[in-house]
This record gives sequence, structure tokens and C-alpha cells, in this order.
Amino acid sequence: MAPQSLSGYYSSTLVDHFEHPRNAGAMDDADVEGFVTNTVCGDSMRLFLRIADGGERIAAASFLTSGCPASIATSSVSTEMITGLTLDEAEAITRQQFAEALGGLPKSKVHCSVLAQAAVRNAISEWRAGRADSM
Ligand code: FES
Repeated sequence: MAPQSLSGYYSSTLVDHFEHPRNAGAMDDADVEGFVTNTVCGDSMRLFLRIADGGERIAAASFLTSGCPASIATSSVSTEMITGLTLDEAEAITRQQFAEALGGLPKSKVHCSVLAQAAVRNAISEWRAGRADSM
């Protein structure tokens, strides 16, 4: 069977994020880390955040994702989208918005955008829980 080309299946924006992921890798000076596993397929994402503005704004984000091209691309675009946002703004981004930023996802890959949304929300709740503990 001939290999299926990525560009025949995914948008060019998604392929670009998969082949040239933005903000990939662990962040040594992260303030908080989120970790989620996709229960549908077992793929996982670690999201690292640096928080500024008295704990209210995301100054930097990076990721380590083990998964399919759609999950890597969604992780990549999510780090770009949340950088500079307040925690409330980042938390409000939906998986559909992450998918739209990549030019959409094939139907069988819609679940992949769940990973980024869950990682963002997990990291933010970890951060808030850590602050609550330190008060
Ligand atoms: S197949 Fe697992 S996140 Fe895409």
C-alpha cells in the first residue's frame, strides 16, 4: 500500500506545525506543568508555562507531546495562542478554536484537539492549586 501523504489528509497549516513545531521541548524555568493523556488513543502532552504579571498572564509556553501529527500540531499552535494571554483567557479557548487555528481537523482526528485544551486547563488549575496552597 502506498504511504498516504500528510498534505493529502491535513491542512497545510497543520503540516507546517507538525514539521516545524513551535515551542517544542521542556522549559527549565517553568512555573508550572500540566500533563494529560488522551483516553481515546493514549497519546500524551506535557505543557510548561511561565507565568508573569503577578500570576495572571502566560509569559511563555512549551510542550512535549507523544502522539500523532494532529496532536503535535495542536500542541504547537496552542503554545502560540496562549502566550501573552491571561489565565482566564487561555482557559476559555475551546478545542474547536485550536482546531480552527490549524485550518480544521479531519473528522477522525477531532479528538486530538482535546489534548491541547485539556493540557492548558490542567496546567492552569495546577498553578492555581499551587498558589492556593502557598497562601
Ligand atoms: S491519535 Fe492520539 S491525539 Fe491524535
